[in-house]
Amino acid sequence: MAGPSGAPFARITGTGSYLPARCLTNRDLEALVDTTDEWIVARTGIRQRHIAADGEFTSDLALHACRAALAAAGRTSADVDLIIVATSTPDMVFPSSACLLQAKLGVARGAAFDVQAVCAGFVYGLATADLFVRAGQFRCALVVGAEVFSRILDWKDRSTCVLFGDGAGAVVLEASPQPGILSSHLHADGRYAGILNTPGHVAGGAIQGDPTLKMDGGAVFKLAVRVLEDSAREALAANGLGVSDVDAYIAHQANVRIISHVAKKLGISDARCIVTVDRHANTSAASIPLALDVAVRDGRVRPGHTVLLQGVGGGFTWGSVLLKY
Ligand code: UT7
Repeated sequence: MAGPSGAPFARITGTGSYLPARCLTNRDLEALVDTTDEWIVARTGIRQRHIAADGEFTSDLALHACRAALAAAGRTSADVDLIIVATSTPDMVFPSSACLLQAKLGVARGAAFDVQAVCAGFVYGLATADLFVRAGQFRCALVVGAEVFSRILDWKDRSTCVLFGDGAGAVVLEASPQPGILSSHLHADGRYAGILNTPGHVAGGAIQGDPTLKMDGGAVFKLAVRVLEDSAREALAANGLGVSDVDAYIAHQANVRIISHVAKKLGISDARCIVTVDRHANTSAASIPLALDVAVRDGRVRPGHTVLLQGVGGGFTWGSVLLKY
């Protein structure tokens, strides 16, 4: 059913991404913790990550990605009436990074807010924007995943510090007469909050508790593989589609072994799996739009393609967005 705008669908019309200038390789990490390039590549597929400069914040990374996405869509910031930033590493406690980004873009209308669903944040944000655009409430949304996870890592803990990096990815989502987002399926189960978290908080003018990331890697791995497979089947069944209809599979870029396990269980060939985790490590909410932008720009995702996006992360949160590009 068409919303008040008369356009029944919300479609991605442009993508953009940004990685900070400083690149930290696995070899560089060998000097910091007891690890090796061989271990990191074999266990995760990661070869390098990018680290934001001092004074470079989530909204700054997001700004670069949004400018690229707007240019790709043939739009300017004057067209934007909704900004959603998915992040777990906001510039400050408040206001939201979305409001700070809005000001940097020179936008002074519409709505702007952050979504906090950790590594599933981008699919949560995209699903939210889709509903607003299809309802006719907004016409042109920027949906962004942007993170500076380097700031919440314990750089002495080799089991976590080698896994994450900083970056941003963005899409322009517009009201459209042609199908774009076909469906979104979101899930959460807070009983798993303990296996992946950053438990510190601010109180009494100081940080209380530990402000660095903690993870039971094995438990996260097993749960991620299970829920991603279930969620992919749920998304395909809801659309009456099969695995063979998926032209590109873009899962959260945390570990190449998680992506290939799920793809194998589903029967998705390597050629249809988009993998960029080797270049930027796990950038949490930024990882899916980063990978999407790479695949759009190198031609693996083309107009008319059916694309399955899947996020999973702390909370626990997970979900799928199936779309026609
Ligand atoms: O966004 C969602 C968040 N995260 C994820 O999706 C991550 C999910 N989990 C994973 O990707 C994997 O579980 C890891 C990459 C974190 C770990 O891989 P693993 O194959 O499960 O290794 P492990 O934790 O079982 O560790 C194997 C060994 C251990 O040594 P011992 O106990 O066997 O002697 C670790 O101490 O590897 C050791 N180890 C390391 N060695 C070298 C752990 N980290 C490192 C390291 N370098 N950086």
